[in-house]
Amino acid sequence: MTHPILRDLNRRYTVKKYDASKRIAAEDLAVIKEALRLSASSINSQPWRFIIVESEAAKQRLHDSFVNKHQFNQPHAKDASHVVLLAYDPYFTQDKFRKRVDAEVSSGHLPAEMYDNFMGAYAFAQANTDDRGYNGGWTKAQVYLALGNLLHTLARLGIDSTPMEGVDPEMLAELFKDELDGHVCEVAVAMGYHKDGEDYNHGLPKARLAMDEVITML
Ligand SMILES: Cc1cc2nc3c(=O)[nH]c(=O)nc-3n(C[C@H](O)[C@H](O)[C@H](O)COP(=O)(O)O)c2cc1C
Repeated sequence: MTHPILRDLNRRYTVKKYDASKRIAAEDLAVIKEALRLSASSINSQPWRFIIVESEAAKQRLHDSFVNKHQFNQPHAKDASHVVLLAYDPYFTQDKFRKRVDAEVSSGHLPAEMYDNFMGAYAFAQANTDDRGYNGGWTKAQVYLALGNLLHTLARLGIDSTPMEGVDPEMLAELFKDELDGHVCEVAVAMGYHKDGEDYNHGLPKARLAMDEVITML
């Protein structure tokens, strides 16, 4: 496959061992942050927070969050250049949506007279909200769009990564309480550069189902 998109997607893979001496350049980090912000979401809900662990102190906190489980991912907390905690809002209210609709208008994307009309789109969230106001299933799905966007962005930048559901949401809620501000982190992405010769996953062929098993052309 020669298309640059396919070349990048074939080259990206899940890193198992990072080179702790290599850091993501500031200009690449700026692209990553903006790409996260630009992620698409249903009704432009953006029901998320992205916490980028960069400082040694924050890395120590992340490292400590693996005390109870998923220790196989723990080395990435310190060896990777950065780790993004992708967190969803489990209670995405109509009032929170209002702030997004405000941005729709102030950005020039939505004519002011369409404000109430756009507010009506909250019905999509409502349809996924239970009696207690919980809509975490739906907001988590939006966060996974940002996850996919992030993985592709990193592939295009030639930066290595590890998507990780192997995190401890309870410990993260405790150790990053202030930053999460009620959001729930069940997936994170380590980013950086693999350790040459020590990453058993590097250079292996892609293992995917055959095209006709996953795609139906009609
Ligand atoms: C949502 C998600 C969660 C994952 N969680 C982990 C994880 O906790 N630790 C890990 O080493 N790999 C994890 N992976 C990596 C997958 O096993 C990997 O993406 C898959 O086997 C395909 O391989 P590739 O990424 O090398 O193409 C995760 C991947 C995704 C998309």
